[in-house]
Amino acid sequence: MDWPVAIRRHWFVAARSDRLRARPLAVTVLGVPLVVGRMPAGGVFAFEDRCPHRQVPLSCGRITAQGLQCPYHGWTFGGDGRCTAVPGLAPDTAAPAVSARTVACQEHDGLVWVRLAAPAGADPARPALADTPPASMIAGLAGGSSLQWQACWKAPVLDALENFLDPLHTHAVHPGLVRRDGRRRPVAAAVRTTDEGFRIDYRGQEEQSGWLYRLFESPRVSECAVFAGAASARLEYRYRNGSAVDITLHFTPAAPDETHVFANVAVAGRRAPRWALRLFVQPLLARVARQDQRIVELQAANRRRFGDSAAVSTRLDLARPYLAALWQPGTQFCRETFERDVVLYL
Ligand code: FES
Ligand SMILES: [Fe+2]
Repeated sequence: MDWPVAIRRHWFVAARSDRLRARPLAVTVLGVPLVVGRMPAGGVFAFEDRCPHRQVPLSCGRITAQGLQCPYHGWTFGGDGRCTAVPGLAPDTAAPAVSARTVACQEHDGLVWVRLAAPAGADPARPALADTPPASMIAGLAGGSSLQWQACWKAPVLDALENFLDPLHTHAVHPGLVRRDGRRRPVAAAVRTTDEGFRIDYRGQEEQSGWLYRLFESPRVSECAVFAGAASARLEYRYRNGSAVDITLHFTPAAPDETHVFANVAVAGRRAPRWALRLFVQPLLARVARQDQRIVELQAANRRRFGDSAAVSTRLDLARPYLAALWQPGTQFCRETFERDVVLYL
């Protein structure tokens, strides 16, 4: 499948920084096989995963002091992709003026981002929601820490994104853990577009009915969902006691039915050492994530069974119109009807 160029101009997470060790890493972003890694000098690189000499995967090579070395004849490539060495050439002969095909690459807060197509006029130079925790969150707040994990869902990116931004599945998919049915209360949702995507502000849900809230949260002063770029979304919770929690998910489609999920939970303004997050919070969040994965994979398998992606929506499906217009080219988007105030019973 060819992904639209408007999508390929966005930044996507290729890998977590802590996965870049001595060996290069093979990843696939929007169907393109890439090799990513870190040069000895420290900078990250991303190339198409093929050697310009005879097309062997560079991800099977190794990183030497001179750069990324192909496993076949040993051609070596620097961080800019240029060939720096061809073993066998006479010592006083320059390496040929060839390059591995490079892909734009940046590293922010523990994630390595790539952009496959050259940007057009207004495309941002920096990935959306790349700062974790965001500066707006930690300004003036002491303590806190963050937690990262990743997963691979056998599902389309559109359905994965919608799942994360949809509060109405939580009673059925995460019963008791996120919310309980039977204790629903009206919550006002205000949906608005932004320069980079859209945001949904929720009012009326100071407390939430599930165990996650009862164990780890306290009354909230605000709650919102932010979507930006092509596939990044963040749930922002702010609390009466001055603390803050952000859950950010970046989705990277490898194939139409395979989406990598890079998650970050950041806590600020309260004592939350990383070991405590790992020990107490991560197992429950991992369980929530597995429940989401299961339902979107069921959905994807069923779409394949029926061979189409028909979808009937109501006003309650807040995020779908924007996400569908982005990920299903040809889908109409009407900002006037998308931006709305809706009461949800959550
Ligand atoms: S195929 Fe890479 S050096 Fe020959
Ligand atoms: Fe969920």
